[in-house]
Amino acid sequence: MKKILVTGGLGFIGSHTAVELQNSGFDVIIIDDLSNARIEVLENIGKITGKVPEFFQLDLKSKAQVTSFFENNHVDGIIHFAAFKAVGESVQKPLDYYENNIGSLVYILQEMRDRKLNNFIFSSSCTVYGQADELPITENAPIKPAESPYGNTKQIGEEIIQDSCKANGLNAIALRYFNPIGAHESAKIGELPLGVPQNLIPYVTQTAAGIREQLSIFGDDYDTPDGTAIRDYIHVVDLAKAHIAALNRLLHQKNETAFEVFNVGTGKGSSVLEIVKAFEKATNQNLNYKIVERRAGDITAAYADTNIANEKLNWKTEKSLEEALLSAWKWQNTQS
Ligand code: WQD
Repeated sequence: MKKILVTGGLGFIGSHTAVELQNSGFDVIIIDDLSNARIEVLENIGKITGKVPEFFQLDLKSKAQVTSFFENNHVDGIIHFAAFKAVGESVQKPLDYYENNIGSLVYILQEMRDRKLNNFIFSSSCTVYGQADELPITENAPIKPAESPYGNTKQIGEEIIQDSCKANGLNAIALRYFNPIGAHESAKIGELPLGVPQNLIPYVTQTAAGIREQLSIFGDDYDTPDGTAIRDYIHVVDLAKAHIAALNRLLHQKNETAFEVFNVGTGKGSSVLEIVKAFEKATNQNLNYKIVERRAGDITAAYADTNIANEKLNWKTEKSLEEALLSAWKWQNTQS
């Protein structure tokens, strides 16, 4: 049974990927520092799959802790989610973001180099494209200057990995996520935003649950059909399955040194107002919202061209937007 390390594996996408890895017959080891995740997620993964993954609470910013882990554990592949990911926070604390997101990546890649470990999957983001010149966005779209230190850590991360593939014979794939939403159908795992949610869907579900007074829609003066910004909202389980597809591609690529990137989205754009209406329809809830000023740094529209991912990963999304929104609402209702 192939053993796969999932860093940040108790986080939103990491936990859903751990479930799909176990469902696909892989043995899973999770490293998480619990800075943005709860330990209960570990047992909840076990409740879904019947097996609690091996877990290490480690600080990947510590080279000594990373080295010690690899001295005692052999893995056949690594899916690296561990990173700080709040765009706004990254503007306030850039050095924390570079130290954590870049430092941990370099330490892990050094261990892979020294121990001749292979098969690395990197959690990247469509943020690297900024506001793309053409839609839908293909993997060849130009990488724009990052609008935030968070986005910069994703761009730099991809470059570091590419250089390591060239120099050290690493096989790697970067998945550029669009907007992950929703939760596992069991409602045992889901998105756990700490504090006031920055992202749209958790704010929507918390407003519907009465935790938040009102949703603020950031701007209705964009150059879009209804004036609100457009994104590509992908069910987190579909996104998790894209990681299994990427891993299988790496495991079956013998003696190839390659760095590939794939856009992981649905290929369909939805505006904020369309999301609000779809949520109200799917859940039969009335959402209290108001239109306010644009949020600084937001782009007008982004949605993926998924042809290359569909073809090369032999993967495509299976869940609808309604399913994703309903699963987010079901998850919200399990949260006290
Ligand atoms: C979506 C849309 C907002 C909240 C970011 C990161 C990206 C990834 C996902 C980490 C936008 C609008 C939002 C609200 C609103 N993060 N909105 N009211 O900004 O597309 O992407 O999160 O990997 O890297 O850039 O996602 O959910 O914050 O916003 O109107 O209370 O919803 O303006 O148009 P975003 P989001």
